Amino acid sequence: MSSLQDRVVLITGGTSGIGQACTELFARSGAKVVTMSIQEAEGKAIQEQLTGEGHQCVFHQGDVSQEGDVKAAVDLAVEKFGRLDAVHANAGVLRNQKITEFTLDDFHTVLNVNLLGVALVCKHAIPVMEQQGKGCICITTSVAADIGFPGHAIYCASKAALVALMRSMTTDHSPNGVRFVGVSPGTIDTPMLAASCEGWDKPKEELYADVAKKIPVQRMGESVDVAQAVAFLLSDDAGFINGSVVHLEGGTLALPPW
Ligand SMILES: NC(=O)c1ccc[n+]([C@@H]2O[C@H](COP(=O)([O-])OP(=O)(O)OC[C@H]3O[C@@H](n4cnc5c(N)ncnc54)[C@H](O)[C@@H]3O)[C@@H](O)[C@H]2O)c1
Repeated sequence: MSSLQDRVVLITGGTSGIGQACTELFARSGAKVVTMSIQEAEGKAIQEQLTGEGHQCVFHQGDVSQEGDVKAAVDLAVEKFGRLDAVHANAGVLRNQKITEFTLDDFHTVLNVNLLGVALVCKHAIPVMEQQGKGCICITTSVAADIGFPGHAIYCASKAALVALMRSMTTDHSPNGVRFVGVSPGTIDTPMLAASCEGWDKPKEELYADVAKKIPVQRMGESVDVAQAVAFLLSDDAGFINGSVVHLEGGTLALPPW
């Protein structure tokens, strides 16, 4: 069984929810982790916790929509650890509005973080990986790419765009050793999901219980469910999985439309 032992991994959005679970799981599995986000205090605390446990993790504060910040994160991985084996392009933001209501500010924020942020990390990581002759990039998309979420038109579009981006990069760069995969989470209990419950007519706990009943496995996802799948997808055991999206949604997409 191969693993992420000694692999150099860059995770964006690595200090909350899904990305934090990945940072912790990968570092505790022996990976050398650069974790990037805009959350300075959280990032420093995670770095301190993991290095205190004897693991290798460096926090890089930066905004994925800023090319200089992304390039600096890739450079940090190479300078500190000598290479870059894997990237989890995971940073994302959620905004809710119908297409008749969205503001240009919200549009640019969602597309800049969710799509441009992934494009930039790929732009700077792929040349390093091609030079090595090997690498893997996992992109967090969403079931919002497949299912219409009421009131989330721009978010859904940003996540669907990532699937097309991933497939196209596969045709250009896999012949040079770079593998691409997508993970498409369903409903995962994270700070992003909790924030999306604000303004509803029920407390979060009741909303979560209602959602869990609708999912075939009868529970919502945890961030660690995603982290375990991403660890496998980034490892050599998943070496023939390329250009595909793995859905992590407890069976939601298998439900009939009634
Ligand atoms: N939680 C869910 O149910 C769910 C479902 C499907 C997809 N997703 C996707 O999973 C990913 C992680 O979401 P989460 O639920 O863990 O959310 P979260 O809000 O808990 O974490 C998001 C992370 O992204 C970082 N981030 C935000 N903007 C950034 C920027 N400009 N530059 C760098 N980092 C930035 C935040 O600092 C944070 O670390 C997102 O791409 C989200 O769209 C989440």
